Amino acid sequence: MLAPREHWGSRVGVILAAAGSAVGLGNIWKFPYLAGQHGGAAFLITYLALAFTIGISVMLCEFIIGRAARKDPIGAFAKLKGGLWPIVGFMGIAAAFAILSYYSVVGGWTLAYILKMMTGVLVNGTSQELGKVFSNFIENPVRPIIFHAAFMTLTIAVVIGGIGRGIERWCKILLPALFVIILILLGRSLTLPGAMKGIEYFLQPDFSKMNAAAFNAALSQAFFSLSIGMGAMITYGSYLDRTMNLPTSTIWTTSLDTSIAFLAGLVILPAVFAFGFDPNAGPGLTFITLPAVFANMPGGVVFAPLFFVLLAIAALTSAVSLLEVVVTYLVDEKGVSRRTAAWGSGAVMFLIGIPASLSLGVWKDYTIFGKGIFDFLDYLSSNLLLPLGGIFIALFVGWFFSEKALEEATAGGKHRFPVARIWMFICKFIAPLAIAWILISGL
Ligand code: TRP
Repeated sequence: MLAPREHWGSRVGVILAAAGSAVGLGNIWKFPYLAGQHGGAAFLITYLALAFTIGISVMLCEFIIGRAARKDPIGAFAKLKGGLWPIVGFMGIAAAFAILSYYSVVGGWTLAYILKMMTGVLVNGTSQELGKVFSNFIENPVRPIIFHAAFMTLTIAVVIGGIGRGIERWCKILLPALFVIILILLGRSLTLPGAMKGIEYFLQPDFSKMNAAAFNAALSQAFFSLSIGMGAMITYGSYLDRTMNLPTSTIWTTSLDTSIAFLAGLVILPAVFAFGFDPNAGPGLTFITLPAVFANMPGGVVFAPLFFVLLAIAALTSAVSLLEVVVTYLVDEKGVSRRTAAWGSGAVMFLIGIPASLSLGVWKDYTIFGKGIFDFLDYLSSNLLLPLGGIFIALFVGWFFSEKALEEATAGGKHRFPVARIWMFICKFIAPLAIAWILISGL
């Protein structure tokens, strides 16, 4: 006989686990530099609009599919409908491999930077020197891979603990810690002389910058940041109990995720402006500019390691959710033990991560469709697989599962769901059409 399916311990625990998945490198590393590149406030507004219409709706669909089926993404589509639908689940598993392999490389950078910051090596550098430190580090063929292995091992260790005693327990500790750290850093950043320029940049919209590229970036970012489009929330939903109020849980998760992204922007952009850096610096913004900012600022020796601890925590609770998608699949469909599934799939992702890491250094010249392996994995997953997954998930719930979905959303009429019809309309029409339009215009 199979053991009964595990489930989350408490409502707060589930929300923190889902928020832990959502809040990650996407919020603190990607969001501020994307906002920097796409016009600050203009990007923020586009992002908010997409996250709270399409994003939140797709997240609810995922929770519903997961809880209704109580299975991994592939098994869930097979059980609820069959036909070709399980392919959506397969795409999700593929996306999990693609994302976690490079995500863990960046996770390793955060661990390395905690050490670099604690030893004080970086505290006195100019921005050029710090840029060199960063590129030397990520281009090194060995060191980043050791940290990538360390990060993946941590992820595996949490996942082996299981849903309640691994993921939920750690998210309950780490997420509040993250929140406190970000508030401390916010206090520091906002009181820097010259911070106001950064705040203005972030909060005063320049609508001329709201073009197709900005929409595309905001949409991909919404999917990535909310952890939707590949079945992570289907997986987490499959461990939910029948009575939980799903619509309010999605509102909580989306709001927490968006607030942390917003706060990260408010920590990073004022600091960047206060020291006269370029907000347009791209992916290096966090790892180059911020250490420079900390180096120049009173109390930097403390704030710098603290910031990278924050980043590492955020990355870990997200990485865990990516690995859990694959582990749940192997446990549910292949009868593999949780421990074997976690070590096995983690090892494969670690191996795919190696060329991703090398592609930033010694393998710079190998490209797929004109992109290095690292960028290719990122592009393939965030710009293609996740939005595509989102289209099918919304279509599935909107057209093939709508009545049961409404019942599931209200737990059989137990909870009120006043915007049910708006949500259905978004699933049926708005989400698939808008995502398809933004996808096509981005190609
Ligand atoms: N949301 C996380 C971030 O912002 C990354 C992440 C975790 C993710 N699980 C996911 C992205 C599932 C897409 C799908 O960093």
